[in-house]
Amino acid sequence: MNNAKIMAKLYKGGRAAEEETRLLGTVENKLGMANWLKDEGHEFIVTEDKAGPNSVFQKNIADTDVLITTPFHPAYLTAELFAKAKNLKLCITAGVGSDHIDLNAANEHKVTVAEVTGSNVTSVAEHHAPPRAQLCAGARADREGRLERCVARSSFDLEGKVIGTVGAGRIGQRVLKRLMPFDPKELLYFDYNELAPQAAEALGVRRVADLGDMVSQCDIVTINCPLHEKTKGLFNKELISRMRHGAWLVNTARGAICVAEDVAEALASGQLNGYAGDVWNVQPAPRDHPWRTMKNPLGAGNGMVPHMSGTTLDAQYRYATGAQDILRRWFAGEKQESHNLIVENGEYATKAYGDRKR
Ligand code: NAI
Repeated sequence: MNNAKIMAKLYKGGRAAEEETRLLGTVENKLGMANWLKDEGHEFIVTEDKAGPNSVFQKNIADTDVLITTPFHPAYLTAELFAKAKNLKLCITAGVGSDHIDLNAANEHKVTVAEVTGSNVTSVAEHHAPPRAQLCAGARADREGRLERCVARSSFDLEGKVIGTVGAGRIGQRVLKRLMPFDPKELLYFDYNELAPQAAEALGVRRVADLGDMVSQCDIVTINCPLHEKTKGLFNKELISRMRHGAWLVNTARGAICVAEDVAEALASGQLNGYAGDVWNVQPAPRDHPWRTMKNPLGAGNGMVPHMSGTTLDAQYRYATGAQDILRRWFAGEKQESHNLIVENGEYATKAYGDRKR
């Protein structure tokens, strides 16, 4: 296609982006594709401004052909906006996780949604790598000068613990692989897509068919599945009450898989000893978001950081070049790589966004 209008909704990097040009996901560095798109004769709008009908994003969506977003400061493409986006044919997620796009509306309007599958899965799994440091959230207690009273009382070894993942896809499997050397008592997973026996054996993981049953056996639960209709608000008061008293919940998947207030309440009561993650249910999170200040009764247990696990410089290179490849294929009329397709021709092309057979 010639003379296409491409819009990228990215986030501002400011001085950091000027100093570090490998921060490709920023408005300043434009996914490294501005010159290429210009040379190819396309219009390229890059903006951070997404809120309200007068924002650059909402004003330009009406005649945009291709929308590029990242999950880090996402533009929420609702059913209402899809109805206005008369020219839209392709949405590219520069990263992994396209829940900020109403995928059912994309199907209704026959818009293709593709993500750069695998681009940052190692980066996210490595965020779990020093899990004890994250889990004891001691740094926060230390900064508050409460070292003696808090840190040791809220800190445990991984050895001998039961750890379960909700979702055993690319990230879930990489997290399990990184946990193995810590000699946990047992590794468990809950996923409607069953791992091949050899893969489960290599990871030393056992499948549990019921989520409530799995979480009741775990000292630590880690969430590694996409956000969709069936996972929104999944970790609510009821499910958290089925977890072991004093367990840890780690969520680098999507904030909205957990009910924010229920997590904060469970931490305050000690039902959860800690909650760690980098994704918030609304991004950017409001100043009064409960996850900014929540604590366990020992004044610790909060391992929240900004949405950053999947955006290392290596990841930014992979999702920027991956997004460019999706765009190049689309301009050339070539088939997309099947693992990148989320919805196409009015249907889900992936099995990861919910078990739609049941
Ligand atoms: P994947 O598609 O390889 O694996 C997802 C797995 O979750 C699949 O096996 C699927 O069957 C399973 N699943 C879906 N619904 C489920 C449910 N209700 N219960 C149990 N399992 C369920 O995806 P990948 O690459 O592992 O990424 C997973 C998610 O992690 C992404 O969708 C995204 O939301 C999040 N993510 C977060 C990042 C960050 O920066 N924090 C970066 C990359 C991904």
